Amino acid sequence: MDNRVYIFDTTLRDGEQVPGCQLNTIEKIEVARQLEKLGVDVIEAGFPISSPGDFNSVVEISKAVTNPTICALTRAVKKDIEVAADALKYAKRGRIHTGIGTSPYHIKYKLNSNEDEIVERAVEAVKYARRFVEDVEFYAEDAGRSDNAYLARVIEAVIAAGASVINIPDTTGYCLPQEYGEKIAYLMNHVPNVDKAILSTHCHNDLGMATANTLAGVVNGARQVEVTINGLGERAGNTSLEEVVMAMKAHHNLDFKTEIDTRQIMKSSKLVSTLMRMPVQANKAIVGRNAFAHSSGIHQDGVLKNRENYEIIDPADVGVKESSIVLTARSGRAALKHRLHVLGYDFVGDELDDIYQQFLDLADQKKDVADEDLEALAGSEKEKQDRSIRLESLQVIAGSSTIPTATVAVSFSGDVFTETASGNGPIDAAFTAVKALVKRKVHLEEFLIQAITRGSNDLGKVHVTVEHKGHTYYGFSANVDIITASVEAFLDAISKIG
Ligand code: KIV
Ligand code: ZN
Repeated sequence: MDNRVYIFDTTLRDGEQVPGCQLNTIEKIEVARQLEKLGVDVIEAGFPISSPGDFNSVVEISKAVTNPTICALTRAVKKDIEVAADALKYAKRGRIHTGIGTSPYHIKYKLNSNEDEIVERAVEAVKYARRFVEDVEFYAEDAGRSDNAYLARVIEAVIAAGASVINIPDTTGYCLPQEYGEKIAYLMNHVPNVDKAILSTHCHNDLGMATANTLAGVVNGARQVEVTINGLGERAGNTSLEEVVMAMKAHHNLDFKTEIDTRQIMKSSKLVSTLMRMPVQANKAIVGRNAFAHSSGIHQDGVLKNRENYEIIDPADVGVKESSIVLTARSGRAALKHRLHVLGYDFVGDELDDIYQQFLDLADQKKDVADEDLEALAGSEKEKQDRSIRLESLQVIAGSSTIPTATVAVSFSGDVFTETASGNGPIDAAFTAVKALVKRKVHLEEFLIQAITRGSNDLGKVHVTVEHKGHTYYGFSANVDIITASVEAFLDAISKIG
């Protein structure tokens, strides 16, 4: 049996059904173009009868991409099929995806029908779709809870009617991996004309089984997988493209092949997450922020010795530059030195001791220290070393019922001087004290505070511009304490006055 597995992406159809994730046509085209770069075989672009917006998206995506087949969803209803065919008129390769429920629940309670009538309607829909396109896929909705013998009967009939891809959706995410795998194996063995079609998996993640079920389906003979970027989809989502593709790649002994350019995975994930305003959980497999982040000292040491000690996937394979060593208060000097080296800073001896101490102070206040924090620490450490004026200590009193007052101690080439001043706020008080100490007429022209990373315990970055005798001087510092960062940045600018 051929081991090529076709990737059918339904981010723009099943994924887009998620409340709050709706995209406009321009955004859908952007995602479709990225899916083409990623190398998916089929893009399910929408459900054209459902709205003019969906219809238009299928039309525009058909025009915008060349390589993937463009697929449009329908119910087993003539009007749906006609509208889908119309929406696909510009597709280089168009597919109609039609189907009907086959489980006892759907037959009785949703469709108020019976088994024989469902077979007839399924066959009729496939034949009608074949009048418009060569490529017809049939879905047996709720196949996960359908009786296998009945499912085999429906499938034999729709293949005979002209369907070349048969989708076996676990619509409610009910199946266990063994059960779903056995369902596919049953169909492979009991549908006499199954060799005329490809079986496709379409798993939902209600029990967290979507990826496992999909792989069980492939192992048992399915050769198309229906997936979404980041596992986006109704309720707990659909099978995630990146998990299935990378599981097959990591287990290369299984010898399944796809045309996915895995280096485009992270880019695709970020694009979908941003446009659909759906953040990816930090520990999400493959694309989560922590998927390649090592934080414990033992793992960091192991990864520095040999990446494969703790990694089964090379981050570069999914478009992540490198694994990140997340530095915490438990990280050693070697991990810090290595990380700084990767970022372009080489510190040894006392310099390293100094920055390690600052790093520990920061790590005590933050759960983890990110690259951006280190860049700021390393940058301001380098600058401090070149400075003859430096802040020795700072004490401020501030609050709603007190006059803000600051006591600042500054060393000038080793000699320390102290001054106390009050002001409109703690920063104003500290700057007034600094001005008194430096005995220079400096005018603060610009003052900008930014949080570097995410939360209230992150580093604050301060940029200041001061004017002295018609010249402008620029200063910078970063510290978890924004008042300290402000005074350091102010002194940095002042120290540059000749
Ligand atoms: O989950 C499902 O059954 C579906 C079908 C419409 C293919 O999304
Ligand atoms: Zn679905």
